[in-house]
Amino acid sequence: MQSLPVKEAFAVPSSEVPYDRLGWKKGYESQPNEYDYWIDNIEGEIPQGLHGTLFRNGPGLLDINGQRINHPFDGDGMICAIAFSEGKAHFRNRFVRTKGFLEEQAAGKILYRGVFGTQKPGGVLANAFDFRLKNIANTQIIYWGGKLLALWEAAEPHRLDPYTLETLGLDYLDGVLHQGDSFAAHPRIDPAIETGEPRLVNFSVKPGLSSTITIYELDTRGKVLQRHAHSVPGFAFIHDFAITPNYCIFFQNAVSFNPLPYLLGWRGAGECVQFHPKKPTQIIVIPRDVKAGKPVQILEAKSGFVFHHANAFERGEEICIDSICYQALPAVEPDSDFREVNFEGLTPGQLWRFTVNLHNQTVQRQLMENRCCEFPWVHPQRMGHDYRYVFVGAAHAASGNAPLQAILKIDYQTGERQLWSAAPKGFVSEPVFVPRTGATDEDDGWVLTLVYDSSHHRSDVVILDACNLNQGPVARLHLKHHIPYGLHGNWSSEYFVPSDRS
Ligand code: CO
Repeated sequence: MQSLPVKEAFAVPSSEVPYDRLGWKKGYESQPNEYDYWIDNIEGEIPQGLHGTLFRNGPGLLDINGQRINHPFDGDGMICAIAFSEGKAHFRNRFVRTKGFLEEQAAGKILYRGVFGTQKPGGVLANAFDFRLKNIANTQIIYWGGKLLALWEAAEPHRLDPYTLETLGLDYLDGVLHQGDSFAAHPRIDPAIETGEPRLVNFSVKPGLSSTITIYELDTRGKVLQRHAHSVPGFAFIHDFAITPNYCIFFQNAVSFNPLPYLLGWRGAGECVQFHPKKPTQIIVIPRDVKAGKPVQILEAKSGFVFHHANAFERGEEICIDSICYQALPAVEPDSDFREVNFEGLTPGQLWRFTVNLHNQTVQRQLMENRCCEFPWVHPQRMGHDYRYVFVGAAHAASGNAPLQAILKIDYQTGERQLWSAAPKGFVSEPVFVPRTGATDEDDGWVLTLVYDSSHHRSDVVILDACNLNQGPVARLHLKHHIPYGLHGNWSSEYFVPSDRS
């Protein structure tokens, strides 16, 4: 297979010290405060055409009253909403009032074990055989079917008021989910170019000796159109998936689960998952139209560990899936401090393309981007279809593993790369692409990202012109405070500010 031509449209001096490690650590300080204000410290100008709301989710607390949590994935979900209209922007953040958040804040201490190793005080005896799950609602936030939903993959969604971010409670999608059901944190929106009726497609996984994958498809009113469950062999740890008009595609990472240390109170459940880098990944291809009666197909590939997929599309009998792969995944060690992670000792996430031939049952793979990258994003109208551009968080340096400090744009057609870097003091989050109203070109729009600026210990909302990342931000909105490193978010074209509410 031909490898992609690479044209670097920017120059990065290789001898430069890429990042400020102490500065990076400060981005993991808790943000216990909740704010509500118009952003007035702005460099550049907010584009007049940018109208809508950026919602972000991520851990807001990295400690409970001074008791440190073991891993950011265990941190209580905090939502940020940045609403844009007529060149102005309003900021608001609020914690999701989950049951566990309210109980722990009232008690002033950790009451629940976390999936990623946070333990209650009191040692093994206090933690053994305590299997209560704290639904921390910290991974994704999406506005769909008139509901703003905070998602965490192991439990039910929480519904919030999109104007005030007030928590309204657990949401069961009008009876589709039942108590204790999970709903993944990676819904995909099928733009349904042919019918013009977009759908939200999502899944849940019930892991076990064999695992059950359930797929949900919701219309724009939030009504369920399809729900079908499939049993797949083996223990499945699946964080994300990809869609095409006809298929849902899952990468079942080569992992095993030894529950004993969890049961006995030594480790969190997530710390009992072991990755086997030499074993193949199972690529599970599930037809979306269950009525057609087509079989589920499972193919093997060498991929490493995958959290996130950029996109997938069909090409005749082939499906291409673009994914961020890690050669190895280090175990989360008990008593280790995630702030002390040795970046250089870990393998970077890299973008690969997997071409699955359903007829010949073969899989080919091709490295698309060598640079360390994570959190890919594509034009919403190209979801599930062949596409030209991907935007992704990336390391400042062209090789090696490092924190994400840059936004990289890859043009698959020409091989051109564009990059904007916030190094050495800035650290980026997932880039969210917002198309310009009425645009026809796939990159005509803006890339929004939250950047932690360690030199001021505050976060900025950075707006980039997606046609030309190299020229730097169109606007940089300085918040009055920092937002700890977050996970995922979404754009809604609706403008949610309480004073405008009718
Ligand atoms: Co994710």
